[in-house]
Amino acid sequence: MFPPEEQKKVKDAAQKISAGKVVALTGAGISVASGIMPFRGQGGLWEKYDPEEMASIEGFRRNPGSAWVMHKEILEIVEKALPNPAHLALAVMEERGYLSSIITQNVDGLHQKAGNQRVIEFHGNVRRLICLECSALYPAGEIELSSLPPLCPVCKGVLKPDAVFFGEPIPRNALSQAHREAGECRVMLVVGTSGLVEPAASLPLLAKSNGAFVIEVNPEPSYLTASVSTLFLQGKAEKILPAIMEDLR
Ligand code: APR
Repeated sequence: MFPPEEQKKVKDAAQKISAGKVVALTGAGISVASGIMPFRGQGGLWEKYDPEEMASIEGFRRNPGSAWVMHKEILEIVEKALPNPAHLALAVMEERGYLSSIITQNVDGLHQKAGNQRVIEFHGNVRRLICLECSALYPAGEIELSSLPPLCPVCKGVLKPDAVFFGEPIPRNALSQAHREAGECRVMLVVGTSGLVEPAASLPLLAKSNGAFVIEVNPEPSYLTASVSTLFLQGKAEKILPAIMEDLR
């Protein structure tokens, strides 16, 4: 149970969600309860690793073997991770016809594992590897990671997780679909993102400029809270999204 003021916000959110086309924008915070660390803040990946070395395309090309140490660690966690109640609530929202699509910055595939059909992977997916030479794609499970970096079985080029690294463009289809969804929605549900990384961080503003109501769920205020969010529910996604779904029933 939430305090009365929070309960009222949950009700307000459910009421908005039931009334119009809803698109969710998710970030690392939604997968924290599945055991996947976020990037920023306490316990975040960037406390332990240098993003420039590990997750920029220049850093990766300079030293793929050392960047792969982190990516192998992430991949092992992601392969084992299961959707948590926040992912499951969004899956039920789609199944019941409330949610039109999810635009996710996450590369863990957990929305699909939860059952969502319409997921726009804005930053790719680490469970797929791409060859930097011939662009061949492989499911990560098919590639041996005992010696790093792994090499393409066909051309021996270096394989990279097929996630968008700093300095790389957003996949064209994902970008155009996300812009369309954000521009057309009546409600944008922003969950577990710091709102720092562009161009994803601009999608809630795009939605709002087109008249959407922006609901944000995060235990901490983000870069979007004061300037963009219309309704801020402060708390963990795995508690708040199931409560909203419960209210929708
Ligand atoms: N429920 C909801 N939100 C949470 C939870 C939780 N249980 N735990 C933490 N958060 C929030 C944090 O308060 C923070 O605002 O999740 C957010 C995580 O922020 P980031 O780590 O910056 O993740 P994200 O916004 O997805 O990062 C964007 O940065 O490095 C890149 O490509 C990477 O896609 C990623 C992008």
